[in-house]
Amino acid sequence: MYTTLLTNLENGIFTIIINRPDKLNALNAAVFTDLDNVVDEINNTAEIKSAIITGAGPKAFVAGADITEFGSLDKTAAMELAKRGQDIFAKIENSPKPIIAAVNGFALGGGCELAMACHFRIAAENAKFGQPEVNLGLIPGYGGTQRLVQLIGKGKAMELLMSAHLIDANEARQLGLVNYITTAETLLDHSKKILEIINTKAPLAIAGCIKAANAVFDETKDGFAEEIKEFGNSFDTEDMKEGTAAFLEKRKAVFSGK
Ligand code: COA
Repeated sequence: MYTTLLTNLENGIFTIIINRPDKLNALNAAVFTDLDNVVDEINNTAEIKSAIITGAGPKAFVAGADITEFGSLDKTAAMELAKRGQDIFAKIENSPKPIIAAVNGFALGGGCELAMACHFRIAAENAKFGQPEVNLGLIPGYGGTQRLVQLIGKGKAMELLMSAHLIDANEARQLGLVNYITTAETLLDHSKKILEIINTKAPLAIAGCIKAANAVFDETKDGFAEEIKEFGNSFDTEDMKEGTAAFLEKRKAVFSGK
């Protein structure tokens, strides 16, 4: 089904491995097509409650856009490529199901942008993050200038964008770019443990949290109004009735996603 991804569904957690290890999982057109389709699979498959994106091999999450595909692009084609990348990454960010990045090595350029489009990030201790596009005479095109500022603040983001300086997992955690650091061996298990907890919660409430939190960064939306709307919507769900009843009856809630 996918030419560049390996996927596996276990206990509601869908693991997606970008599988071009000999090219450090660089994002070429085929990976973009697969990522576009895999988000549809996540969104449209009831058995999938949440997802992890990671990279194949011990060295890289994703070492960037595939630079070999840049040679033939003119200005118009480059703008189209950036739009395509931004649209796919926005689709990840706006998925109603949690999608997290398990960063197992280099997350550079488009790789850092992909990780930032995920709902949050967990890093192995060998992870390295950066936007080194200025080394190539480019700027980030898949949302990097926007999400880096959103996640770590303007001053540090400006420095990283302009210097192409790479940061390690510790610095990424200090800056709030990653939530946890693990060993390479425990990265996926740790990521799954967090999603196992999230997967016990009410899916529509999780989708509401994602929508309202994303609205903070969407100029076309009033985030507080979005929160009021989603809060109201949750009162229309069976899961809200189950969750509140279970609390009052001192038992564990069993959510149906309805
Ligand atoms: N696009 C295309 N190919 C890439 C790539 C990218 N972004 N990143 C790595 N590769 C390829 C290399 O060309 C090499 O292929 P080859 O074996 O056919 O020559 C292979 O992946 C392994 O990479 P290599 O550079 O030999 O590994 P390294 O350990 O010496 O260095 C990096 C690792 C990440 C520091 C280095 O690969 C790098 O700087 N990559 C580009 C990062 C970048 O600028 N990303 C932003 C792109 S917009």
